[in-house]
Amino acid sequence: MHDDDLMALSKKFDAMLEVSDDPAALENLRLFLLGKKGELTALLKTLSAMEPDERRAFGQKANEFKNYAENKLDEARRQNDAKQIENALGLEKIDVTRPGRRRPVGRKHPLTQVLGEMKDLFVGMGFTIEEGPEIEKDYYNFEALNIPANHPVKDIQDTFYIDGQFVLRTHTSPVQVRVMEKRKPPIRIIAPGAVYRADDWDATHSPMFHQLEGMLIDKNITFGDLKGMLIFFAKKLLGEDVGVRFRPSFFPFTEPSAEMDVACYSCGGGGRGCRVCKESGWVELLGCGMIHPNVLSMSGIDPAEYTGWAFGMGPGRITTARFNIPDTRLLFENDMQFLNQFNRP
Ligand code: PHE
Repeated sequence: MHDDDLMALSKKFDAMLEVSDDPAALENLRLFLLGKKGELTALLKTLSAMEPDERRAFGQKANEFKNYAENKLDEARRQNDAKQIENALGLEKIDVTRPGRRRPVGRKHPLTQVLGEMKDLFVGMGFTIEEGPEIEKDYYNFEALNIPANHPVKDIQDTFYIDGQFVLRTHTSPVQVRVMEKRKPPIRIIAPGAVYRADDWDATHSPMFHQLEGMLIDKNITFGDLKGMLIFFAKKLLGEDVGVRFRPSFFPFTEPSAEMDVACYSCGGGGRGCRVCKESGWVELLGCGMIHPNVLSMSGIDPAEYTGWAFGMGPGRITTARFNIPDTRLLFENDMQFLNQFNRP
């Protein structure tokens, strides 16, 4: 009777071992057989109620089975561990022939590239680079540049006012004044930086943009010097055959004043429906002129002894011209797909 039970249990164990292929299943099988409430444990408990002969005979068989089962379970566990290690090694195998991962290298924004070239050009001619605050005193932004409080030009330059005394500078020209106040001629400076106007957001305007101011003051400086310098500059940056024209203009801080245009880089000149030049064939690049005597004397420089020129240009315009970019807004959208086209080391 007990022998039959043992036989049945042995068969059951073998069958269960067959399908126990992970550590949890093997542990369950061990508990099923040998645990406190295990089947074999229960059988062994019946030994004490047996006659001595039967006990000896059955006890031997039961113990043999116990040893057998324990060995089998050990072996299965070992095989299982080995299989797991093998699997893990298979997963972690390194293919040393695979190509490496590309690490993208950062490059300069096209505007920064062009600004850098502009700076190099002027530094090479003996100009120094100056900076001024973007939150500027009304005095430096307007008054000291010959723009009195009620001057209509203040309407044209739709200004962002901080309060009555401070504005977001509408141009880099206040840096002219800051430099004149602290230095004596000869003066040769450029002043690059961000400026702000409550402008429309269109293909050629944004409320924040960049300017590069230039100023030269010395004895006997004429409008001819200014023109020569600017034409040289345009050719260096946009190519020897770039079309250039000067138009008479007005700025309160220069007299005479002019604006310099370059032939439209988008349509090649006079293109119908061209958004960049608005069909005029020309794109305004900068304002310039001879520094107004009032401006010189207000900042402590004697206009009888010294003359000078100044210009303010938009590096954004030169950048769009150089790279044939049809819309300034693209420069400020930080779209990497767009910017990567202009990646030059
Ligand atoms: N500050 C002028 C502007 O922003 C440009 C300019 C600079 C004109 C210097 C003349 C001289 O439009």
